[in-house]
Amino acid sequence: MKFFVDTANLDQIKEAQDLGVLDGVTTNPSLMAKEGIKGEANIKQHYIDICKIVDGDVSAEVIATDFEGMISEGEALAALHPQIVVKIPCIKDGIKAVKYLSSKGIRVNCTLIFSVGQALLAAKAGATYVSPFVGRLDDICTDGIELIAQIADMFNFYSFETQVLAASIRHTMHIIQCVEAGADVATCPLSAITGLLKHPLTDKGLEQFLADYNKLNG
Ligand code: E4P
Repeated sequence: MKFFVDTANLDQIKEAQDLGVLDGVTTNPSLMAKEGIKGEANIKQHYIDICKIVDGDVSAEVIATDFEGMISEGEALAALHPQIVVKIPCIKDGIKAVKYLSSKGIRVNCTLIFSVGQALLAAKAGATYVSPFVGRLDDICTDGIELIAQIADMFNFYSFETQVLAASIRHTMHIIQCVEAGADVATCPLSAITGLLKHPLTDKGLEQFLADYNKLNG
């Protein structure tokens, strides 16, 4: 399973890249706003800066909600850097935009997916990724991980090439559950990825190894 980091913070992206296991980055307008990035030129430059840090795909989201606006913004975002994947919301005009951009060879991440039906439409329209939001479903007492498993099964059954990009991952256990559910990618906060390292027996074992070494070597 691939790891994307879900942030627009350049320091966190650098830290994730330095770990050596990063496959890409996802952003959204809220994450860009959190970093104080405003104005078209600054926003575009920030996406380029992210692409310079990370080796893999970088999702950049359109703001328009109509077909013409989405394709015009999508083409402009895709032209910024070959690593850019255009993020399009799963609404009616969005599906039309996914079809249009995909047919032009522009890779699309169809976002705000909350049902198997939405994922089916996005895949049929040619999306490279669909982003089901696990945490936001869990927030309303609906099993977000179950949706990942259902979409992964459907894509396998119909041999869709669209990848399941599990989004809205809130903690480390979500990542493990995404592996079990068959997600192709999980986009996570950096803390959820580094949380995978934590095990008391690793800490205890290392402490013992060093203590034994130091007994003889001082
Ligand atoms: C990523 O593509 C999504 O925009 C993001 O994971 C949403 O996460 P949140 O529900 O924690 O805001």
